[in-house]
Amino acid sequence: MANILMISGSVRHGSVNSSVIATAAELMPNGVTPVIYTCLADLPHFNPDLDREPLPQSVVELRRLIAESSALFLSSPEYAGAMPGALKNLLEWTVGGTETTDKPTGWVNSSTMPNRAAGTYASLRIVLDYTDASVIDQACADVPVPRSSIGEDGIVQDAAIRSEISHALTALVLAIRPAESRVQ
Ligand SMILES: Cc1cc2nc3c(=O)[nH]c(=O)nc-3n(C[C@H](O)[C@H](O)[C@H](O)COP(=O)(O)O)c2cc1C
Repeated sequence: MANILMISGSVRHGSVNSSVIATAAELMPNGVTPVIYTCLADLPHFNPDLDREPLPQSVVELRRLIAESSALFLSSPEYAGAMPGALKNLLEWTVGGTETTDKPTGWVNSSTMPNRAAGTYASLRIVLDYTDASVIDQACADVPVPRSSIGEDGIVQDAAIRSEISHALTALVLAIRPAESRVQ
């Protein structure tokens, strides 16, 4: 059974990007299990001196979740023109492992700012390339998500936004299936 590891780049309570991730989990195509990563804030600062046995437990867990996933799906805010340090830190911890290699990866850019968080998503692509993840263009949705589109349950209610998220997920799942059938 395929599963998709879903990562919000925000550690803020009431985060728009975490709502996007929760919504994507709800919209997951049949037969695919969403696994929402909730430990972003628990990772130590990346330090090559720590990137050896015994690894910090939170890093072991992160790498296990990535290894067991069929694909990655992200949604992140931008701070000061770049991705949040917490998300960059997570990605730095993936460089030392091979778990992300060829992993189909998509995202939702939910920014409502005029610059559309361009710096974040350009550098996200660069960093994911370093980790040998496989960014699937059709699985990368560029859809502003205003706070007003999110219900009290933390789920995006707007039908057009939900549809964009669904399309991205469908493209991601299509990218998984050929990759997994090659292994079998
Ligand atoms: C300190 C700070 C810096 C920010 N810098 C940017 C920025 O450079 N570009 C941008 O598009 N948004 C910027 N924002 C806006 C956030 O990206 C935006 O509020 C986003 O929705 C937060 O995501 P979250 O709700 O998932 O935490 C900034 C917000 C804060 C608090």
